[in-house]
Amino acid sequence: MLAIDAHDVTKTFKSGWLRPTRTAALRGVSLTVPRGTIVGLLGPNGAGKTTLLSILATLLTPDSGSVRVLGHDVVRDAARLRRRLNMASGRPSFLWSLRVGEIVAFYGRLYGLSGSKLRRRVDELIELCELGANRRTPYSELSTGLKQRVALAKSLVNDPELLFLDEPTLGLDPDVSVRVRRHIADLRSQRGITIVLTTHYMREADELCDEIAFIKAGRILARGTPAELKRRIRLGDVIALRLDPPAVPWLGEAPGVLRCRAVDGWVECTVDGAEKRLPDLLRALSAEGIAVRNVRVREPELEDVFVELAR
Ligand SMILES: Nc1ncnc2c1ncn2[C@@H]1O[C@H](COP(=O)(O)OP(=O)(O)O)[C@@H](O)[C@H]1O
Ligand SMILES: [Mg+2]
Repeated sequence: MLAIDAHDVTKTFKSGWLRPTRTAALRGVSLTVPRGTIVGLLGPNGAGKTTLLSILATLLTPDSGSVRVLGHDVVRDAARLRRRLNMASGRPSFLWSLRVGEIVAFYGRLYGLSGSKLRRRVDELIELCELGANRRTPYSELSTGLKQRVALAKSLVNDPELLFLDEPTLGLDPDVSVRVRRHIADLRSQRGITIVLTTHYMREADELCDEIAFIKAGRILARGTPAELKRRIRLGDVIALRLDPPAVPWLGEAPGVLRCRAVDGWVECTVDGAEKRLPDLLRALSAEGIAVRNVRVREPELEDVFVELAR
């Protein structure tokens, strides 16, 4: 059973009046999301992620294409669908002077809750999102992480079957991100909520999602489970070396090295695992009399993955 079935969706924004400009945000996107899964839309800034989520969540209308969500047409049945889905942004904005508990209650009233039912729902969400200590804190005084948790609490107020999370861990410290991710995983496993999230962190998508769709410039470039995509892309760590002499012909053929390229005086080697390969590489370079002036190790960035995909 599909929660989302979208075909060939396009959306172009027109802005300006005297000299109008057109931005093609989505250029024919098709996406299916089975119920009860977590699907990640992964892509760089401007890829069209927020536009796609907004269309799926009935907040924007597509220019063309067909979009069915929970069995309904997003344009014709928008009002009926809205009761069954919700969305949270990683860049939330709520009225700055309202307190956390008041914000959640405000949204509860919009969905028709009142009296003891409303109080119970607010209590439950405050507890679920670990906001108890901040219930009476004005929104403007919250940290980024707490603001995002308020957004998550708000998005659960109508007990949605389908949840859209737009960059849920944007700008969070790593330890806070881990907690948010655990919450998201629990929402699916304990409540069976279908979740579509956007992110530009490769590792986040890898950890959380059953399936990932790479989106760039309004198109889906690849789609699959994290394992399938990794097999295709051969994701590894990047070891960057500053060498003297700078060019070492055999480096690309060394054991465990998937590929090598020269970037601004550095040699960047993508390896299957840095911990395993770095000591061997350094030993081999030293044995050849090549001086290693500097070394950096990093996880592959999304850009690396796209470079591979676009080849
Ligand atoms: N309301 C808007 N008016 C004009 N252009 C927009 C609007 N919203 C988004 N865009 C443009 O559409 C493209 C996709 O934006 P967006 O969906 O926000 O990307 P992402 O969420 O992946 O960063 C970008 O080029 C952006 O500048
Ligand atoms: Mg966005």
